[in-house]
Amino acid sequence: MLNPIVMMNDIAIIKDELSSQIKGANDLKALDDVRVSALGKKGRITAVMKTLGQMDPGERKTKGQELNFLKDEIAALIKKQEIALKKQELNARLINEKMDMTLDARPRDKGYVHPISQTIEELTAIFADMGFAVAEGTDIEDDFYNFTALNFPPGHPAREMQDTFFLPDDLEEQGEHIKKLLRTQTSSVQIHHMQNNEPPHKIICFGRTYRSDYDMTHTPMFHQMEGLMVDKTTHMGHLKGCLQDFVQAFFELDDLRVQFRPSFFPFVEPGAEMDIACSRAGGGLKIGANKDGSVDSWMEILGCGMVHPNVLKNCGLDPDEYQGFAFGMGIERMAMLKYGIPDLRTFFESDIRWLSHYGFDPLDRPNNATGVKRV
Ligand code: PHE
Repeated sequence: MLNPIVMMNDIAIIKDELSSQIKGANDLKALDDVRVSALGKKGRITAVMKTLGQMDPGERKTKGQELNFLKDEIAALIKKQEIALKKQELNARLINEKMDMTLDARPRDKGYVHPISQTIEELTAIFADMGFAVAEGTDIEDDFYNFTALNFPPGHPAREMQDTFFLPDDLEEQGEHIKKLLRTQTSSVQIHHMQNNEPPHKIICFGRTYRSDYDMTHTPMFHQMEGLMVDKTTHMGHLKGCLQDFVQAFFELDDLRVQFRPSFFPFVEPGAEMDIACSRAGGGLKIGANKDGSVDSWMEILGCGMVHPNVLKNCGLDPDEYQGFAFGMGIERMAMLKYGIPDLRTFFESDIRWLSHYGFDPLDRPNNATGVKRV
């Protein structure tokens, strides 16, 4: 047990020692340590306070006052030192953290629009100008919408050309066996649209499509665009005019020539493939005719045709009353041709160097207001 009398005589010493410790604390952490050692639960002043209980009442009163006075004095000294230290710290920061307002801004990382998104924007702008609306579909389709309704009945050999990924569990729905698959073509969107809307129809749609292929020009997933127009008087001339206008706008060549070659797709009759004029002179590839107007080569870019009467019937339309045309194309292919991208697989490698080379400035995206022309 401490001797109270000795402790009391020590008040002056305690005061001197604590005062010099406070003055010597040159950061806030050191100052707080001094505060704890003086005023904390186990601090020096607190320990002396505890001895008051052993004194007789008269002495306790005077010594108590003295001790409280010491306590206040020390607390005030600590506060004063704290203010001084904080000021010092602020001054040091103000000197160290000087800002040079004349410095140039650091270059920031810039994002790019993927050529697929860019091409979809451009295609949308062109067809929106011609009055087409955008319809949407799902990547997972029923066998019926992807094949049967499009006039590929079960067992039809054309199904072989579009082998795809079937979902592991065939689902039983309404007692019927419904096979689910990853769609092989966006043509399935035509069927949903015609079943759920009243004619006339004038739509385009974009989306991912899947086939079990992989080489320089085929990937298991790629994007397609589909177009459909159905009305009472729609004919082959509309199809040709629409697609000719489209490629001229897309490739920004007002005199770009096209040719149609008969081709087979189960859901159109007649069916055709459309080629654009190009030149392969000198081993390169240039879209458009030669300087003298001659065309030395043609390149296939899309499939099209008049909607097959069976497809119209499958969608509840009378083929004697309605007729229409449809077309479909690969979006990667359009982007590769327009922007000179040589390998299809690179679209899906997610290489940031590729994206910064072939990507587009987000603020320069064409839209329905600006069209495809860049300024
Ligand atoms: N869906 C066809 C394909 O993937 C393209 C196409 C669409 C052809 C519409 C004609 C009409 O090959």
